[in-house]
Amino acid sequence: MKAPVRVTVTGAAGQISYSLLFRIAAGDMLGKDQPVILQMLEITPALEALKGVAMELDDCAFPLLAGMVCTDDANVAFKDTDYALLVGARPRGPGMERKDLLEANAAIFSVQGKAINAHASRDIKVLVVGNPANTNALIAQRNAPDINPRQFTAMTRLDHNRAQTQLAQKTGKSINDVTKMLIWGNHSSTQYPDIHNTLVAGKPAMGLIDQAWYESEFIPVVQQRGAAIIKARGASSAASAANAAIFHMRDWALGTPANDWVSMGVYSDGSYGIDKGLIYSFPCVCKNGDWEIVQGLAINDFSQAKMKATEKELQEERDAVKALLPS
Ligand code: NAD
Ligand code: LMR
Repeated sequence: MKAPVRVTVTGAAGQISYSLLFRIAAGDMLGKDQPVILQMLEITPALEALKGVAMELDDCAFPLLAGMVCTDDANVAFKDTDYALLVGARPRGPGMERKDLLEANAAIFSVQGKAINAHASRDIKVLVVGNPANTNALIAQRNAPDINPRQFTAMTRLDHNRAQTQLAQKTGKSINDVTKMLIWGNHSSTQYPDIHNTLVAGKPAMGLIDQAWYESEFIPVVQQRGAAIIKARGASSAASAANAAIFHMRDWALGTPANDWVSMGVYSDGSYGIDKGLIYSFPCVCKNGDWEIVQGLAINDFSQAKMKATEKELQEERDAVKALLPS
């Protein structure tokens, strides 16, 4: 058995975490040979509920669960941690866009970025789930100047998974047949689900569907899926969000499958002409615990316009939180 690693989860008594924590402890994220110590952060009024979650984790008798910390102090939660899943933030309600949460949530990520900078492992891998995820990741990253910015990522894997399923269902194929799906940009309604390089059972996806379906159904359905779930469930996606967080961290830590890539919100190095320093979703391959952006994809005018629109929204979000971004 390997030595335990520390995994911090914020918002640990919330609805996403109620799916997430049990799967991390079961080994779904880092492998069935990797013991974990869960370091769970909540706000003070939720500590009693968190105690209940910890009791349930105990009652699962997970062989890989090597310890638990429950705290309302970010300095304790991020101490020596190797992986951090920043979930704790307010979710949106009906009629809101995710960026409407910036005011409510942004400050959380500046405090947590500072705590990560001061206390976490220098090799920490951070995934931001709390919305608006890309800009919250940017805030955390900029408040952690001693950590490599590449170690801060935002979750667009849920969008990626949603897009794979929509395409598999449309073409009558299995989810396992859909490879090279791609979400560009922001986890918001401006995201661009791009299937120009996607394969379905080895065939180009664009040859299997028509442009009208792509533009008027597929793209809006993927862009609006979060809102559709809020309308149907009366609460935002939780189990599917937790699943996407598991997939994101698993692939980053353990590697992506051969001949495929995943969508991750990562620190832009200027690839594809995207503003350097934004946290923007790109096609990524992961190996040896690191990610790299897939280069050289052909971008047509349709794609270029959509990639720029979502970049513009991220620039506007960045400008709106300028006060929380130390230079
Ligand atoms: P929730 O309200 O059920 O849980 C959030 C938890 O965070 C609460 O228990 C709250 O007490 C806690 N919290 C608030 N401030 C905190 C802080 N400063 N430190 C630690 N904990 C804190 O919400 P949820 O449904 O679990 O969603 C959490 C976030 O994830 C929301 O912002 C939601 O919009 C977002 N989300 C993102 C994606 C994505 O794909 N990126 C998908 C689904 C949900
Ligand atoms: C989602 O995509 O389901 C989440 O980001 C929740 C939301 O606000 O849409």
